Amino acid sequence: MNAPVAEQKKPIGPAAPLTSIPPDLVSVQDYERYARAHIDPAVFEYIYGGGADEISLCRNRRAFDELMIYPRVLRDLTQGSTHLRLLQEDFRHPILLAPVAFQKMVHPGGESALAQAASLLEAGMIVSTLASEPLEDIARQTQSPRWFQLYFQQSRDFTMQLVRRAKLAGYSKLVVTVDAPLHGIRNRAQRAGFVLPEDVTAINLNDRPELPRRVLNPSQSIVFQGMMSEAPTWEDIRWLVEKSEMPVILKGILHPQDAVAAKAIGVAGVIVSNHGGRTLDTVPSAMDVIRTVRATVGPGYPVLLDGGVQRGTDVFKAIAMGADAVLIGRPQVYALAVAGALGVAHMLRVLREELEVAMSLAGTATLADITPDMLFRGVN
Ligand SMILES: Cc1cc2nc3c(=O)[nH]c(=O)nc-3n(C[C@H](O)[C@H](O)[C@H](O)COP(=O)(O)O)c2cc1C
Repeated sequence: MNAPVAEQKKPIGPAAPLTSIPPDLVSVQDYERYARAHIDPAVFEYIYGGGADEISLCRNRRAFDELMIYPRVLRDLTQGSTHLRLLQEDFRHPILLAPVAFQKMVHPGGESALAQAASLLEAGMIVSTLASEPLEDIARQTQSPRWFQLYFQQSRDFTMQLVRRAKLAGYSKLVVTVDAPLHGIRNRAQRAGFVLPEDVTAINLNDRPELPRRVLNPSQSIVFQGMMSEAPTWEDIRWLVEKSEMPVILKGILHPQDAVAAKAIGVAGVIVSNHGGRTLDTVPSAMDVIRTVRATVGPGYPVLLDGGVQRGTDVFKAIAMGADAVLIGRPQVYALAVAGALGVAHMLRVLREELEVAMSLAGTATLADITPDMLFRGVN
């Protein structure tokens, strides 16, 4: 008699988060590999993907891979440290969590779990306007520096309301994202049929006032006269710098002249970024332009960088090119999905230790020692 055929199991959605770190999960890239099993496929594509043909997304990695470190030997490194003093705050290391929207999409612990990991690993954290938990709850979970990422709202009053809430909750800086007044062309997410799950919302915008919709006539553009009519301009940044009690940082700068313009109106620092290759495609990566930005704004002006940072050697290279610190975007989401706060803490520790190893093997005891001549250009 034939044995009964085992009932075929239907796929039941993403695997549950792990409660311990498997021995073969040893690098940031490993988190991406594991994350595919722990995230709904359409959500994964949305997170992983970039704009249009993903030329900028690919460029972000290539810019790091094409750079080589030029190590020095036999130096005394016993006093070595990754300590950073930036904008009147102390950081144990120069690796911050980038603002990433809707983290509850991948783990019920959401942004709070990320904040716990940031606290444990003494990593700075930037919380998105589009966080899926109240900004106050997230802030309570970390002792490390926390900054609030602001998307300008249609109403200035409501924008100021968010700013005041952030200040009250203990955020020390405002990071205004300026490179995404509208979504880029996100073909990968479109093809995957991505939609925001119903139970995940931008909860901090719940009180947003309903403003009358602009009515366009047929000769007007939905983009220019529609969406872009709400987008902030330099005038709004000037206004915010004046009104905000917190220093303002601009995120999403690529052109050195925009960094100069920011500095000129009292912006406290810039984050050189192409938004993880998710907005305008075919723009350069932050690593392509960071040297020019640094040279243009001069030493001492805070310049951070993100896009494609996946290794301690990447952090090293970014600093050698003139960045003060780097932000980590997608890897935090993957680590959160794979193992919650434990995963994010582990991922941050891996990166921090990789940076320490890179510094040691390159002969640099402090971040200040990581100078442009630590990179090999073939003609050094
Ligand atoms: C899923 C996702 C959501 C993001 N949401 C935001 C956001 O709400 N605000 C923002 O300023 N940047 C946002 N970013 C961009 C990141 O802050 C960061 O610039 C980028 O991810 C860095 O590149 P990386 O992912 O290669 O590290 C998001 C990025 C991803 C992948």
